[in-house]
Amino acid sequence: MNKEKKNKLKWISNNLPKTEDKNLILMSPSQSKQVHEFHMSFPQYKETPLVRLSNMSAHLGLKDIFLKDESYRFGLNAFKVLGGSYAIARYISSITDEDISKLPYSVLTSDELRNKIGEITFYTATDGNHGRGVAWAANKLNQKCVVYMPAGTTQTRLNHVLNENATATIEALNYDDCVRKAYSQSQSKENAIIIQDTAWDGYEEIPAWIMQGYGTMALEADTQMQKYGCERPTHIFIQAGVGSLAGAVQGYFTNKYSDCEPKVVVVEAEVADCLYKSAIEGSGNPQIVGGDMLTLMNGLACGEPCTIAWGILKNHADTFVSCPDWVSALGMRLLAAPSKGDAPVTSGESGAVTMGLLYTILTDPEYKDIKEKLGLDENSSVMLFSTEGDTDPERYRSIVWEGMDSL
Ligand SMILES: Cc1ncc(COP(=O)(O)O)c(C=O)c1O
Repeated sequence: MNKEKKNKLKWISNNLPKTEDKNLILMSPSQSKQVHEFHMSFPQYKETPLVRLSNMSAHLGLKDIFLKDESYRFGLNAFKVLGGSYAIARYISSITDEDISKLPYSVLTSDELRNKIGEITFYTATDGNHGRGVAWAANKLNQKCVVYMPAGTTQTRLNHVLNENATATIEALNYDDCVRKAYSQSQSKENAIIIQDTAWDGYEEIPAWIMQGYGTMALEADTQMQKYGCERPTHIFIQAGVGSLAGAVQGYFTNKYSDCEPKVVVVEAEVADCLYKSAIEGSGNPQIVGGDMLTLMNGLACGEPCTIAWGILKNHADTFVSCPDWVSALGMRLLAAPSKGDAPVTSGESGAVTMGLLYTILTDPEYKDIKEKLGLDENSSVMLFSTEGDTDPERYRSIVWEGMDSL
C-alpha cells in the first residue's frame, strides 16, 4: 500500500489522575510463583522461548530486543490457555474447598475428581485464542464447554475450538455482545459458569484468576532475560484487547521492579482502541468502543476495557498507542525475516503488532516525538510478547508471503 495513504499511528502519554492502586497486589511475585508451579504440573508445560533479536536491535539503535514466543505454548499456538486453565482450576478449588496446590494437572484430570464435582459446563466468548484455551482445559477435565465467537471470526479459528470437543458458534454479534450472551446463558443453566477473560462490575474474581494465569508468561520472560545478562527491561510493549494481558504484564513488572518501573506501552488495534480512548478522555473512567471492530488483529478486537486491568494500567502504563492493521502486517513480516543472524519467529496478527510499532517509531521520522518521549536509545532493553503464532495459517500466508496489509 502507498505509504501516504496509510492511516497514522495515534498515541498519548498517560496523564490520568492516580487512584487507589488496589488491583496491583493481584500480580505480586509470590502469586505469580504459585501460578507458575501450577502450570509446571501440566505434562504439556515447557518454557516458551525468549528470543534475543540482537541484530535487529543493533539495526534500530537499541541495546536489546527480547521477544517471548508464545506460539510454543501447550501446542495451542497462543498464550491464552495460561489464563483459562488457571481460572478453571481455581473455580474447582472453590468447589472442593482445597488449596490450588492440591489440584495439580494429575488430580484435575482424574476420574476421582470428575466423580466428586460432577458435570460442569464452562461458557465463554472469544475471538479465538481464549476460547480454544478454555475448551482445551474443559476437554482435559472431561467437562463441557460452550463458546460464542463474534462475526468476522474465521472458520479456521472456529475449527480449533470445535476440535476440543466444545460446542461453538460464530454469532452475528461483536465480541462484547458475545460476552453478554455467554454470561446470560451461563446464568440460565444448572451447573454452568462463565470463564471470561474480562471483568466488569460484579464479575471480577474469575477474570482476576485469568490475569494471574498470564503471570506465568511474565515470570518466565523475566527469568529468561536475566539469564541473557539483562537486569531488567527498560521498556515493555504489550498489545491489548480488553487489557487483561497488558494489566497482568504491567502488574508483574511493576511489582517486581517497583523502584525502577519499566515504561509500559499499551498497543491496540485502531478500530478497538478503548484503552487509548480512555486515556484521551482523561477522567480515568473506562471508555467503550462499539460496532463491528473488523481488524486483522482478531485477538485485539474488543471494545470494552477489563475493569480490573484498567485499574492497574491507568495508574502505571506510560503510553497508549492506537495502530492501524498495516502495523501488525509489518511486524509479522519483520519477525518472519528479521536481520540476518536473528532467529525468525512465526508471529500472528495479534502477536506481531508491537514489533511493527517499535520498528515504525524508530525508523519513521514522522514518529520522532514518541521515540523521544519514550527515551528509546542505545541504552534501551525492550521486551515484546509475540502472543500468538500462525493461529490462522491461511491468513498468515496471505500477509507474510503475499503482502496483504489490512482487512
Ligand atoms: C494473541 C492475543 N494477543 C493479545 C490479546 C489481548 O489480550 P486482552 O484481551 O487480555 O487484552 C489476545 C486476546 O484475545 C490474543 O488472542
